[in-house]
Amino acid sequence: MAKQNIVVIGSLPGEAEERLAEKTNMKIWRSTDRIPDDQLEEMLADAEGFISRGDIKVDDDLLSKAPHLKVIAQSSVGYDNIDIEACTKRLIPYGNTPEVLNDATADLTYALLLTSTRKIIQSHTLVRNGAWNSPYDIPMGVGLSGKTLGIVGMGNIGRGVAKRAHASGMNVIYHNRTQSIENDALGQYTSFDELLESSDFIVVLLPLNSSTKGTFGAAEFKKMKSHAYFINASRGAIVDTHALYLALKNKEIAYAALDVTDPEPINMDNPIMNLDNVLITPHIGSATTETRENMASLTADNLLAGLNKQPLPACVNEAVNYKN
Ligand code: DGY
Repeated sequence: MAKQNIVVIGSLPGEAEERLAEKTNMKIWRSTDRIPDDQLEEMLADAEGFISRGDIKVDDDLLSKAPHLKVIAQSSVGYDNIDIEACTKRLIPYGNTPEVLNDATADLTYALLLTSTRKIIQSHTLVRNGAWNSPYDIPMGVGLSGKTLGIVGMGNIGRGVAKRAHASGMNVIYHNRTQSIENDALGQYTSFDELLESSDFIVVLLPLNSSTKGTFGAAEFKKMKSHAYFINASRGAIVDTHALYLALKNKEIAYAALDVTDPEPINMDNPIMNLDNVLITPHIGSATTETRENMASLTADNLLAGLNKQPLPACVNEAVNYKN
């Protein structure tokens, strides 16, 4: 049987790329730069499978240029760049990579909390700059034990963060679309406003969609404690960046640690870049070698299953997943 045509955007670490190259006729865009639209459309014209990337908008228009697609997959759990309805309308199953990144992302989220509260970056800078002149003149941190951590978006990653917080002796509260027994075992359900008002540290792990975009704006920051730390490890557009900038500048909240920004990469002229009470990392939540290999492997599994009209192991639009 002739090999099927696939398009892959971005290199896939581990064994995934070799497996796909063996079994398909693969065209790959290796650059970290965004592929020009006309080039992508040309590549997709005869493609049966497509591995997309977060910097590509997969919408009705793009899909209309890819009439032979049987499956789309992407190495991420979030799929805010994919119009799932448009895929479903064309009976194209879309596969993502849940579960395999839970621990890495929960670790990073918790690392942001520890790094910012214990002033790790400032301490390192002080030593590096030769300014460690006395054992009695060192950055003083904020303790976690006995404090309240509020988690907004209590899915798998949120539950991972809650477990880590228990190990530090923290009291965990959460807000989610729905309350669940599984989540209640790890924290106390509260209204959104109550969480904003009573948390010492707030962690955001919401998926980005039309109802979560801009969830945190001026009104929400005003409800938080003035000593609150705000940590976003989900998507930048969940937050109104200018409102966050003002809240930090005016000391309405104490600190923000962000693994995600809007846009990514952040513009260097964004005024938030001038503040001392902010820590920004370049979207590294799932960025460990092991996790990225596992994500790539699941992406290849999803794609190969779809090409063979077999059920995708992790399908977002289950209604159009292939059946056994
Ligand atoms: C995801 O998988 O959505 C993560 O944000 C990527 O690191």
